Amino acid sequence: MTRAGSHGNGRPSRRARPAGGLGNLSGADTPQRSARVRRKIPVSHDSEPQPVTAHPGGPLNGALKPPGDKSISHRAMILGLLAIGETRVEGLLEGDDVLRTAAAAKALGAQITREGEGRWRIIGVGIGGMQDPADVLDFGNAGTGSRLMMGVVGGQPVTATFDGDASLRKRPMRRILDPILKMGAQVVSEAEGGRVPLTLKGPREAIPIRYELPVASAQIKSAVLLAGLNAPGTTTVIEKAASRDHTERMLRLFGAEVSVTPSGEGGHGRTVTLTGQPTLRGTDVIVPADPSSAAFPLVAALIVPGSEVTLRGVMMNPLRTGLITTLVEMGADIERLDEREEGGETVADLRVRASRLKGVDVPAERAPSMIDEYPILAVAAAFADGTTRMNGLHELRVKESDRLAAVAAGLAANGVTYAIEGDDLIVTGNGGAPTGGGTVATHLDHRIAMAFLVMGLAAGQPVTVDDGAMIATSFPSFRPTMLALGARIEDGAAA
Ligand code: S3P
Repeated sequence: MTRAGSHGNGRPSRRARPAGGLGNLSGADTPQRSARVRRKIPVSHDSEPQPVTAHPGGPLNGALKPPGDKSISHRAMILGLLAIGETRVEGLLEGDDVLRTAAAAKALGAQITREGEGRWRIIGVGIGGMQDPADVLDFGNAGTGSRLMMGVVGGQPVTATFDGDASLRKRPMRRILDPILKMGAQVVSEAEGGRVPLTLKGPREAIPIRYELPVASAQIKSAVLLAGLNAPGTTTVIEKAASRDHTERMLRLFGAEVSVTPSGEGGHGRTVTLTGQPTLRGTDVIVPADPSSAAFPLVAALIVPGSEVTLRGVMMNPLRTGLITTLVEMGADIERLDEREEGGETVADLRVRASRLKGVDVPAERAPSMIDEYPILAVAAAFADGTTRMNGLHELRVKESDRLAAVAAGLAANGVTYAIEGDDLIVTGNGGAPTGGGTVATHLDHRIAMAFLVMGLAAGQPVTVDDGAMIATSFPSFRPTMLALGARIEDGAAA
C-alpha cells in the first residue's frame, strides 16, 4: 500500500520535525540546499504508519482541561516575534504545529525559551527587525502557521522559503499570495499551482490595501493584517461572513489600533481596519482551552451511553462555538457552567451527559464558526435519530486532507448512511450505534483520526484509524486524556 507522504515506493520519507524541539534551522540558504529540500517529501512523523483502534466500552466519566487553543498559540508566537520586548505565554498548545511556528519565529530572529509546561517566553525583534532565516522554514502539517507567517514575511524586508509535509504541499497558498503580492511581496519560486515549497521576498515597506476576502477564512484575513503591520496607512479586510477574530483581538492586546465593524448582508460580515506601523509591545498571553479539541471528548461523552464528562476552561468565543449550538439543537445535554473571562476571552466549564440526538439542518452561514468540527459532527450525526444536513462545506476540501471525502469514506467504512450533494454532507442515523468495524484512512489529518476513534468508543464494533501519529499536531495528550475518562484505545489494528 502506498500512503500519503510516501515516496511512491511504499516507503514513507524520513521524519521532518523542528530539530532540537525548536528547530535548529542554521546553515546557509544556498540554492543547493533549497533544491535538496525541494526534492524530499517530508511527513510529520516517524516513517511507519501507526494504526490505532478504539473499542466500544462502558461510560466515560471525569473532568479534564483540553489543550491550549491552536489558533491563539500560533498567533502568540507570531506576535511575540513582531513585538519589542518580552512576551510570556501561559497554556500554549505544545503540539507539533505550534512548535513549527515557534521554530520559524526563532529562525526569523526571536529568542524563545520554554519555561515550564505550556509556559513560554519570547523576546521579539519588532516590526522591520527580522532576519533572513538560515534555512527552509519547515511547517510540517501546519496550514495556519505557514499561512500567517507568509503574511508576516510578505510585508517585511526578509526572504524565506516555506515548506511542509505531504499534506501541506497539497494545500492552496494562492489565496495568501494574491493579496500579499498586491502589498509588495514577490514570489521568488513556488511549486506548481502556488504551493509550498515556495520562497517569498518581502518589501522594505508594505503597500496598504483594501481587500475583500474571496472565501471566509481567518487565515487569509490574518495574513493580510500581519502584512499590513509594516504598511504606512490603513489596511482593510472585508469578510462576507465573520471568521474567528483572534488576530484582531491579539493585535489590540499588543498595542495595535484595529477597528471592526459589522458589514454586508444582514450584518453577518465584518470590515476590519488596521492602522499600519504600530509599535507592538511584548505582553502576557493566556491561552484558553481549544474548543476544537474539546469537541472530541465532548462528542464521545454524548454518544457513549451513561457518560458524564466535564471539560474545564473551554473558550466560548462565539466565532468558535458553532458545534455547541448545533449539538444543543440536536438535543445534547451540555451545560455551560461558571462562565468567566480569561486572557481576554470568555471561557466556561462544559458539563456533558450522554444524550439522545436527533438530526438537524446546519446552515451554511454557521460554517466559519465550526469549520474544523464537521468530522466530529458527522460522527455525532451517525448516532442521531434521522437526517443531519451539513450545508456549504466546500472549504473542507482544502483542509489537512479533503475532509469531505475523508469523512465520507470513514462513514462508509463503518456502515453509516450518507450522501454528498454538491458541497453538502447528509448523514442519516437510526438513533442507535452504527455497525463500526471499519478501518479509516486519515490522510495525515489529525481531526479525521480523532473523530473516528471517538466513533469506535460507541459503535457496534471497534474502529481502526490507519495512522494515529498526526494527532500530536493539535492534541498530543488525546489518548491519555481519553483513557483517563475510561475509554479503550489501543495501538494496532482490530484483532
Ligand atoms: C484557522 C482558521 C481556519 C481553521 C484552521 C485554523 C486559524 O482555517 O480551519 O484550523 O487559526 O486562523 P481557514 O481560515 O482557512 O478557514
